[in-house]
Amino acid sequence: MTDTMSAAVAPFYAIHRKMRIDTRRYVTAVEAATEADRSGRLIPLAKWAAGFGRELHLHHTVEDDHFFPALVERSPEAGEVLAGLEHDHEIVAGILKQWGPAARDLADPTVDFGTARADVLALAVQLRDLLAEHLDIEDARIVPRFDEVFTEAELEAIDARVKKSLPKKGLSFAVPWNVEALDPATREELIGTAPFILRLLYRIHAPRFARLVDEAFAGIPEPRLD
Ligand SMILES: [Fe+2]
Ligand SMILES: [Fe+2]
Repeated sequence: MTDTMSAAVAPFYAIHRKMRIDTRRYVTAVEAATEADRSGRLIPLAKWAAGFGRELHLHHTVEDDHFFPALVERSPEAGEVLAGLEHDHEIVAGILKQWGPAARDLADPTVDFGTARADVLALAVQLRDLLAEHLDIEDARIVPRFDEVFTEAELEAIDARVKKSLPKKGLSFAVPWNVEALDPATREELIGTAPFILRLLYRIHAPRFARLVDEAFAGIPEPRLD
């Protein structure tokens, strides 16, 4: 995080980066899947996919309900780009409707393996490629605008509204996933200054989350972004 970037905006870049890494890694994990993995890593992989899908949908809801409307009101010229991004969110919502059940079918020995793998792979590739383009546009044309058109206090007010709106369910995935998206220095800073409840939730959920990721992606390294 640089001095010119507000604390409410900086995590967007880190979260987007994590989305690029995770969607690429998931495609590789599905490509490498074999029928024998149904008694092994495909079960945790389905659980991970459900958590990631929930998190992605929530991220888009926060953008659609809070950040984008605030920006278009302050900066109407951003409206066209934002409309395109909101349209992408709708396409992603359609993919995510099939996402969890398809991942569960991939782990289910009563479902034809070849069909299940082809279905999951098609969804995963579509999501990876759509997000790659979507996130590049957001990072280049939208996220920087927040620091240009809002004061730090205004961004903090939006952020406070977002935090209030967040669901209390799904924290066992959401908290560690978001914290671990941050670069190590920012993560340390956050853990040092975050409210007690957030630090506690992270301490409770991080070990099990790490185990889930290790089991789901056993033998599938994290891709390096260019
Ligand atoms: Fe985003
Ligand atoms: Fe988005």
